[in-house]
Amino acid sequence: MNESDNNGSKSNILVVDDTLANLQLLVGILTENGYKVRPAKDGLQALSAAKTAPIDLILLDINMPQMDGYEVCTKLKADPKTRDIPVIFISALSDVLDKVKAFGVGGVDYVTKPFQVEEVLARVATHLDLQRLQNNLRLTNEELARSNQELAHTLEQLQATQQELIHSEKMAALGQLIAGIAHEINTPLGAIRSSVSNISKYLREIFEDFPGMLDTLSAKEIKLILELALRAINSKSILSSKDTRKLKRALTRELEELGVSDADTIADTLSDMKIHQGIDPFLPILTHPDSQKLLEFAYNLSGLQRGNSTIETAADRAAKIVFSLKSYARYDQIDELFKVSLTAGIDTVLTLYQNHFKQGVKVVENYAELPPIYCYPDELNQVWTNLIHNAIQAMDNKGTLSIDVTQEGGFAKVMITDSGKGIPAEIKHRIFEPFFTTKPPGEGSGLGLDIVRKIVQKHHGEIEVDSVPGKTTFTVSLNMNLQTNSNS
Ligand SMILES: Nc1ncnc2c1ncn2[C@@H]1O[C@H](COP(=O)(O)OP(=O)(O)OP(=O)(O)O)[C@@H](O)[C@H]1O
Ligand SMILES: [Mg+2]
Repeated sequence: MNESDNNGSKSNILVVDDTLANLQLLVGILTENGYKVRPAKDGLQALSAAKTAPIDLILLDINMPQMDGYEVCTKLKADPKTRDIPVIFISALSDVLDKVKAFGVGGVDYVTKPFQVEEVLARVATHLDLQRLQNNLRLTNEELARSNQELAHTLEQLQATQQELIHSEKMAALGQLIAGIAHEINTPLGAIRSSVSNISKYLREIFEDFPGMLDTLSAKEIKLILELALRAINSKSILSSKDTRKLKRALTRELEELGVSDADTIADTLSDMKIHQGIDPFLPILTHPDSQKLLEFAYNLSGLQRGNSTIETAADRAAKIVFSLKSYARYDQIDELFKVSLTAGIDTVLTLYQNHFKQGVKVVENYAELPPIYCYPDELNQVWTNLIHNAIQAMDNKGTLSIDVTQEGGFAKVMITDSGKGIPAEIKHRIFEPFFTTKPPGEGSGLGLDIVRKIVQKHHGEIEVDSVPGKTTFTVSLNMNLQTNSNS
């Protein structure tokens, strides 16, 4: 029943004995029991047979002239081709069997002469089974090693893909930011462009009108016009349009009482020049038959300054955005700790989000004095960007975004709170999972918070979230002694 392996083919047994009678006896027994048997009459023959033919088991006589069984076995075990074939020693009862030596050179068992047929068959079958099991085990092991390798390779590929995704998420976040920033820079550029064209128009009109005025006006009147322009230039009043309307109405009444004709139009121009009071000294101009034209001249003169100051403000604004952009990814590529101000990083991101805030988000900053801390500044910018972006999305561009920075023990705490819809309790435990998103396809990849958490962990910090409808707070705690800790 053990004579063939699982595939149904017969097991091959090599029998080695220098005593011909023994050899024939064993070959007979085994063949009868369905094994394929090869006889060998000495060690040399045995070695060459084991190397050339497929052998599943060897029955090996110990006591042989020239090369004894121990030596044959030693040689078999030294050759990678034959070392796995199980060897059962044959020893005569009269011989003193050195069992220690027999097992020491690699034998698996022994049988004694004269043979007990049942015993020989039982031992042969047992060792063939064992051998088969071992072979199966080896194959399974090899298979496992192969699958393991494949798994390792797959894991490597997954990690690379994840890196790519993280990178593209970074790019997507940057892309969204850039769309807003382009708009942000375009606005001041537009203001500059229109101011420049206004200034040219004012200059052209000034040059056109001035010669005529020199001919018709007195020196005193010209001086008054210049003074009026100067008053406009120096006026610092910043009024709401409601207040402006109110003051303009009062000014119209005053002008009417003073007998100025076309009081409404004159009040309009004066209001544009931000002059609403103290008009008495300029009455000679305002009541002049050419009052509209003279006032227009003063308006054009002061307009040069108005244009100038618009350009200044717009250029400052654009410069601030460019500065923020530059500081957004200043330390990229270098995986090194830098000692920087935490709040400066937050402000950089806030500046870049200015455009979203104008649509209806009120930003409340509450920063405690904090010394600069060691961190990975660009990666922290990534954290603030993702949290602020989520907050704005949760509020649908309308509400209050509060940023609180405090110090607690050796930790800097940054709390980003929005007044948005909140995180439902049933998904709260999932929001940090990569790819978990409640946003429509194309709007969110669900990687934002995964990245945030990884970066916070890199800083040996923690991130927590508290949320009820109308108030969601993400708290990031950062170790303020990262440098010392990572050096220790
Ligand atoms: N401030 C918040 N208020 C309410 N829900 C939030 C807030 N922040 C995150 N979430 C929830 O957590 C989910 C996961 O956020 P995460 O930033 O990881 O991905 P995402 O914003 O959906 O996509 P991505 O950040 O890739 O654009 C969001 O889809 C949203 O449901
Ligand atoms: Mg997000």
